[in-house]
Amino acid sequence: MAKRRVAILISGRGSNMTALIEAAAAADYPAQIALVISNIAGAGGLAKASAAGIKTETIESKPFGKDREAFERKLHEVLVAHDVELVCLAGFLRLLTPWFVRQWEGRMINIHPALLPSYKGLHTHERALADGVKIHGATVHFVVPEMDSGPIIMQGAVAVRDDDTPDSLGARVLAVEHGIYPDSLRLVASGRMRLENGVCKSDAGSPDDALIAPTII
Ligand code: GRF
Repeated sequence: MAKRRVAILISGRGSNMTALIEAAAAADYPAQIALVISNIAGAGGLAKASAAGIKTETIESKPFGKDREAFERKLHEVLVAHDVELVCLAGFLRLLTPWFVRQWEGRMINIHPALLPSYKGLHTHERALADGVKIHGATVHFVVPEMDSGPIIMQGAVAVRDDDTPDSLGARVLAVEHGIYPDSLRLVASGRMRLENGVCKSDAGSPDDALIAPTII
């Protein structure tokens, strides 16, 4: 089995990146992490990637200022030079232009800490708590030009508790992220995920049991 070459783009601590690297270490995993790129010098995830033996690059976005495309042309050049086939955004804090998104259409995925299409954007856990939703979660999706949109590959949900804070809720969602991101990449890299009328379908199963919150005791 030829493993698909994957680049992970980060800006921060890289816990999702680590989950992907760990999953990709398995012999039967259909992707290999060829490269980790950060747009922030010294991002915490860079040292973790290096420690795991993964090649890293820093392409700082700051010097490019408002010229987003110039930054992205450089990014694209590095991805192509490393024969990257799939891109995983993992806490990459940079809006991407339609030009870059088109270059990687159908080959770039992102993780968002909410059940899309609810709570696009920032501060998702705070907003979910303020609304009093009882179920919250995370989504892995293909990247399209519109932010936090695009065909949904996989979602994971958690029950919201009455005493949750953004941090406690965020921690449970993050644990879900670390499960669904590697599983999503497995589906995409192995070609088991297909698009039908803009909707993702796969041969992966789905559980019958409902997640109900709160549960009456
Ligand atoms: C995660 O919550 C992810 O969903 C969001 O940014 C955060 C990145 O965290 N896109 P980490 O760097 O993967 O730990």
